[in-house]
Amino acid sequence: MLLLSLRLRIEGSNIFLTGASSGIGAALAVSLTRRGARVAAVSRRSVSSVSVSVCADLGSGQERARAVEETLSALGRVDILINNAGIGVYAPSWRTPMNELREMFEVNFFAAVDLAQRLTPGMVERRSGMVVNIASIASKVTLPWFTLYSASKAALEAFTRGLRIELAGEGVGAMLVCPGYVRTNFQASVLGGKPPAKLVSGKRFAATAEDVAEAIADGIERDARTVLTPAIGWGLVAAARLAPGLVDARLRGMMEAAGDE
Ligand SMILES: NC(=O)c1ccc[n+]([C@@H]2O[C@H](COP(=O)([O-])OP(=O)(O)OC[C@H]3O[C@@H](n4cnc5c(N)ncnc54)[C@H](OP(=O)(O)O)[C@@H]3O)[C@@H](O)[C@H]2O)c1
Repeated sequence: MLLLSLRLRIEGSNIFLTGASSGIGAALAVSLTRRGARVAAVSRRSVSSVSVSVCADLGSGQERARAVEETLSALGRVDILINNAGIGVYAPSWRTPMNELREMFEVNFFAAVDLAQRLTPGMVERRSGMVVNIASIASKVTLPWFTLYSASKAALEAFTRGLRIELAGEGVGAMLVCPGYVRTNFQASVLGGKPPAKLVSGKRFAATAEDVAEAIADGIERDARTVLTPAIGWGLVAAARLAPGLVDARLRGMMEAAGDE
């Protein structure tokens, strides 16, 4: 099988972007529009300064189908799907209510697969396109205050890796994005619980949504396999592989500082 190298240009592309009403998605909508894309922004709140804004709850299959339909009737085709919308739950895995777990997986994982299933066939037909999935560094290093969130992002990572190989001969790419700590409204929007105090106080070291958005847009144009940003996060990934006991102890220390777990 011939493995094509994909070089997608953002300029002139139609992009279906979820979660553009806040944080990384909002910064992405600005960056992609500035680079010449037509952006369809999909979230529960409406978004201004994009080509199309569709208000939809991505936790519902029917709403996802409607969002795709409205976008295709407005833009004609989708070249790039960016699954960015996501939510978390700060709670020990053994005490997380199952309804919150299901709601989180519906948005973080099932919505991403469903939207890819709806939009990838058109890309394959045109032999051009890309699916971009915003996971997290937590997909590579499980964060114990966020065990089930990490599980949902690890599922998204496995899906992205497999999809990239499945589509390699079809002219369609798949890119994984693993942001580290980013300054957004994410902590305030979780379904339940609160983050460890050390994480909150570390916010000043967090990346900006704008820097992450630029790294993602650059990654799309060079057909990156993975964008892990800020790159210092690779240090944590390597440490967790080489010295898992030490990293576990450090993470445990951060959890204890929360005084709850
Ligand atoms: N911030 C971080 O430190 C960090 C680190 C690693 C990974 N990430 C990931 O980056 C992505 C973006 O997060 P962020 O930090 O930018 O968070 P954010 O500021 O809270 O934005 C989350 C976005 O997701 C949308 N969303 C949530 N639930 C939705 C639903 N049911 N239906 C439709 N849209 C929904 C929200 O829109 P509405 O509320 O308008 O629906 C919002 O636009 C997420 O996947 C997150 O897991 C964030």
